[in-house]
Amino acid sequence: MIKEDLNTFIKLANKLVDAENHTPVVEPISPKGVTQKLNLELSSEGISEEEFYQLLEDVMLNTPRTATNRFFNQLFGGRKGKATLGDLLAVMLNTSMYTYKVAGPMVGIEKAVISQTAELIGYEANQAGGTIAPGGSMSNYMAMVMARDKVDKDSKNHGIGVKMLVYTSADCHYSIAKNSALIGVGRNQVRFIPTDQHGRMLVEELEKQINIDVNNGHLPFFVNATAGTTVLGAFDPIEEMSSICKKHNLWLHVDGAYCGSVIFSEAYKHLVNGAHLADSFSLNAHKMLGTPLTCSLILSKEKSHLYDSFSNEAEYLYQTDEDDFNLGKTSLQCGRRNDALKFWALWKSIGTRGLEALIDQQFLLADFARDYIKKNQDYTLYSFNDSISICFNYKEIPPQKLCTLLYEKAELMVGFGQFKGQEFIRLVTINSNNTEKEILEFFRVLEDFVAANRGELQIPAGATKA
Ligand SMILES: Cc1ncc(COP(=O)(O)O)c(C=O)c1O
Repeated sequence: MIKEDLNTFIKLANKLVDAENHTPVVEPISPKGVTQKLNLELSSEGISEEEFYQLLEDVMLNTPRTATNRFFNQLFGGRKGKATLGDLLAVMLNTSMYTYKVAGPMVGIEKAVISQTAELIGYEANQAGGTIAPGGSMSNYMAMVMARDKVDKDSKNHGIGVKMLVYTSADCHYSIAKNSALIGVGRNQVRFIPTDQHGRMLVEELEKQINIDVNNGHLPFFVNATAGTTVLGAFDPIEEMSSICKKHNLWLHVDGAYCGSVIFSEAYKHLVNGAHLADSFSLNAHKMLGTPLTCSLILSKEKSHLYDSFSNEAEYLYQTDEDDFNLGKTSLQCGRRNDALKFWALWKSIGTRGLEALIDQQFLLADFARDYIKKNQDYTLYSFNDSISICFNYKEIPPQKLCTLLYEKAELMVGFGQFKGQEFIRLVTINSNNTEKEILEFFRVLEDFVAANRGELQIPAGATKA
């Protein structure tokens, strides 16, 4: 039976790849229409094999295509064959990563991925530790829990008794505020520090705010530096933030979910200078490194913090081997899927140099896109060098309107964002399978679309930006 299902899988996967090649964007189904178009309701009786196969195919072919060269909508995209293969094997093996007894060599694989990533950050390999969390938000969560437990060892037993404060930039990911709520610190205790015109935290504002809070008798404990802010792709100044954290004895975390993977590139690792000074560092391999979702690494400069915050005795679970090989002692979940294998498979197959090439390609494409925009007077550029988020507007068309129409008419998947009140289209060059040709094609599709839809976009004939 499983062999038949696997053959079905191969057939479906090949159909998907063919469909992606000739139709890179699917026509969206409205949220209300989805249950009318597709037979999604569950019932007491099963359906025939033929109906089942047809339904799987219909669902698959109507799902948005995130691996194609017309998908620029989120901070992931494309598909790496070896990483996909690794993930498919992880599904077949269906191990759980809590114990060596159950996961065997997969524990060695996760430990290899963690220790070599720690080395690239600049951590001492024999002191550092890490794990794989279910996404960047949860990596940030784990960092915050470790910081809370370091500053107040009893908080995990007695709860939080004093007003604890979190510091992050005004342009950070929303998970910082959400996690403050989740760990019991509270959203109101998050200080959003202003940023400069490039979206980087203003460190003098950080120090000023910490001093005010200390003078008011509060307990600052956690500072978040973002390596690649979600909209602009800006990098906070880690070294300068670290000096302030050392002075005030605060935990410094680097949220590198989006762009922390620059540690793999000789040319771009300077963007996270000082990373080794941070107490924890996270990166999403499912973003810049192109593994399937999710694969988020959280590393701690000192492994003991992971044990302190996340270990829990369980006689029914830990029955063989040492703590160091029973990874449940340092992870968030109990049962945990094997997210290491896909990343290891990719890394093993192309080497660290291969991963470096993926990062460099994304910056090269970003430079190319920025140059194109700068040379064309119909465009306005809002973002800066050293970022793979290219923020722009075309002919002053409201970006929300343009992005939504491009999606509804199945031309391009691209999103919009805003910075300091200015709204713009955000093109993300994170799919390293792309070349300059696909970036040119992006602009061609956008320009042709605007020319053909002037009425709907309400652009007067012959209008240019000026
Ligand atoms: C800077 C930053 N941090 C954290 C996250 C959250 O990562 P995830 O979506 O894997 O939870 C994102 C997601 O885009 C991000 O951009």
